[in-house]
Amino acid sequence: MRTLIAFAGKYGSTKKAAHLLRDKFSGEVTLVNLTEEKPPDLDTFDLVVIGGSIYAGFIRPEVRKFCRDNLATLTGKKLGLFVCCGLENKAEEQIKTVFPRELLSRAMATGYFGYEVNYDQMSFLDRIIMRLVSGQKENQFCLREENIEKFAAELD
Ligand SMILES: Cc1cc2nc3c(=O)[nH]c(=O)nc-3n(C[C@H](O)[C@H](O)[C@H](O)COP(=O)(O)O)c2cc1C
Repeated sequence: MRTLIAFAGKYGSTKKAAHLLRDKFSGEVTLVNLTEEKPPDLDTFDLVVIGGSIYAGFIRPEVRKFCRDNLATLTGKKLGLFVCCGLENKAEEQIKTVFPRELLSRAMATGYFGYEVNYDQMSFLDRIIMRLVSGQKENQFCLREENIEKFAAELD
């Protein structure tokens, strides 16, 4: 089975999660960072995994564009969808709002892969917003490897 993992994030945690996921699959896997690369031809893949981080309730714009541009092709694929986001208790609810209905209804797995907050990398504005919203001043590294493993097992 040929697998594509197409992802987009802003400060690196989605990228880390996507790499962790790649290592959990047994077959051939292509990783595409949608913020840096054009997606390859989807016809050559059996399984497509799409993931991104959430900002102010929206998944990264590159993920939205990828889903929009390839909606018809994606609905014919074996699909997995994941998010990285800080609000763990709202993760499931957010997954349902950030991906198109057509993809959600066909996905064989949806996953919450945890989050990271790395103030050293953030823009000034994001740092201010994050500090205000979370009340936290420390960096946090909370990717959920057990969730990533479970997600891969559901698709492999
Ligand atoms: C400015 C800002 C806004 C955010 N908005 C949300 C949000 O609406 N919901 C949520 O669950 N997490 C939110 N987060 C947390 C990020 O989704 C989380 O830190 C994620 O791991 C970032 O992944 P990335 O480094 O790949 O972009 C926000 C973080 C920042 C800095």
